[in-house]
Amino acid sequence: MLVSEREQLRGNIVKWVEQYGSNRSSLIPVMEEVQREYGHISEYVMQIVADILDIHPVEVDSVVSFYSFLGHKSKGRFIVRLCRTISCEMQGKERVAQQLENDLGIRFGETTANGHFTLEWANCLGMCDQGPALLVNERIYTQVTPESVHDILEECRSTFGVYGPNAQTVMDIRDTDTSKMTFTGVGVDGRMGQDQAMGMEPSAIIDAIEESGLKGRGGAGFPTSLKWKLAAKVNDELKYVICNADEGEPGTFKDRVILTDFPDLMFEGMAIAARAIGAIKGIVYLRGEYTYLRTRLERKLEERRQNGLLGSNVSGVQGFDFDVEIRMGAGAYVCGEETALIESLEGQRGEPRNRPPFPVNTGFMGHPTIVNNVETFAWVPCILVKGSNWFRKIGTETSTGLKLFSISGDCREQGVFEYPLGITIRELLEKVGGEDAKAVQVGGAAGHCIPASEFDRAIAFEDLATGGSIIVFGPDRDMLGVAKNFMEFFLDESCGQCTPCREGNMRIFEGIEMLEKGECSMKYLRELCQLGETMQMASKCGLGQSSPNAFLSIIENFKDEIMGRVSIAC
Ligand code: FES
Repeated sequence: MLVSEREQLRGNIVKWVEQYGSNRSSLIPVMEEVQREYGHISEYVMQIVADILDIHPVEVDSVVSFYSFLGHKSKGRFIVRLCRTISCEMQGKERVAQQLENDLGIRFGETTANGHFTLEWANCLGMCDQGPALLVNERIYTQVTPESVHDILEECRSTFGVYGPNAQTVMDIRDTDTSKMTFTGVGVDGRMGQDQAMGMEPSAIIDAIEESGLKGRGGAGFPTSLKWKLAAKVNDELKYVICNADEGEPGTFKDRVILTDFPDLMFEGMAIAARAIGAIKGIVYLRGEYTYLRTRLERKLEERRQNGLLGSNVSGVQGFDFDVEIRMGAGAYVCGEETALIESLEGQRGEPRNRPPFPVNTGFMGHPTIVNNVETFAWVPCILVKGSNWFRKIGTETSTGLKLFSISGDCREQGVFEYPLGITIRELLEKVGGEDAKAVQVGGAAGHCIPASEFDRAIAFEDLATGGSIIVFGPDRDMLGVAKNFMEFFLDESCGQCTPCREGNMRIFEGIEMLEKGECSMKYLRELCQLGETMQMASKCGLGQSSPNAFLSIIENFKDEIMGRVSIAC
């Protein structure tokens, strides 16, 4: 590198550090800028950044190596990422993969000799209803076929140097026949709930949310009001409201629809939460795969500032200052876990923290923090406008309200649907044309595979909890193949911090390959099941605790299919 180039590089890094702040939490945004501009993060860059942020280069290195969107290796001008996760696999990702390799003359993981294209696998891109999905830099392509691969690559070649993000997706929340109470039907316009909240005491806001029974829509189902109440109690001038927009669970894409079609509701919910707990700062942690949504979200934030809905004296309330910024994830599923997300925001590897302390006491930068899902925030203004009772009357006693479901797989209607919690799998399948399904995966890769004999079970926190991912498997699907796809996902996404998860996912994946080849004995299969149960108990975080779920439930519920693959010779 020439001296002038080095100087320019240093100048750019200084500029980005000034933009994001000269502290550790700006490390990832700065690295993302470097990655975007220079295609990789060199040792020289790590040294400069370490100097400026006053941290050791080894720490910078450990962060860079953690996130899949950052890397030391030089990549092509176009990074072509094909989703290999289950819904895209079911929609023909393999044929697309072959076509990409043929057209580019490289294998996955390689870069073309001219440095133009790098071909990579991606985990779920949040387009499961429109697969196979392909991400080229920040541009998303859906329903990709072997025939369309050529056009996509030609488009890259012809737009070399001027290639920007787009969002060529059709997004809508489909209304249901159970009510007209979708977000659009509620009649909330992006400020009504916020205006109403500003006339209420903070404690009254929390009471209203408590009366509604709203629980976290990310899947864990923690009572929203309790989280807010705990954070409100802590005495600290600096508190944070964080929106978890890092939906990475395979088969989940409902937050992408909210971020696209109803971002005002989410921002409104964040402002209401801030008023309730006394926060002055908000952060949306947006998954790297949704970078193409960033510009429009920032435009929306600016619009809200212009309208007095963010900034100083929000909504005319003297002394209530609150603003929101967008921070990008860098391709790590585990950062969907709230403490890993906070670590990531602080410029660390996204490794989950031990709890306690909980984020409501010691969260982002050591300050009280609430982390809620996109959908959770979006329901908040609806509840204030329509009333807590409206929400409570829908759903079941312990799982109140409406829920958005991301439905993909072997059914006539894929997409985002809104139904009351408590709906049974059978009812849901009837609505989306999946009546002949032999299994339904509820809750994504981390969830459970439910056989037809259990289709009368309810989707609710007291029975089958889910963040919204529903994947339908038709009568001809190979369930061992399904289990393999999920384990491959976890193998890739495990942060490697704890042994049960790091080693266990690998052993189970290898065991599935042995089953496929007819080389797995009954004894070894039993050991693998015991290993899965150990992982559920001994893994450090939710990822390792839930990663064997699909495998174990498939072995349990599809014995006939699996036992036919067990070797009787060994
Ligand atoms: Fe491929 Fe979700 S986008 S499975």
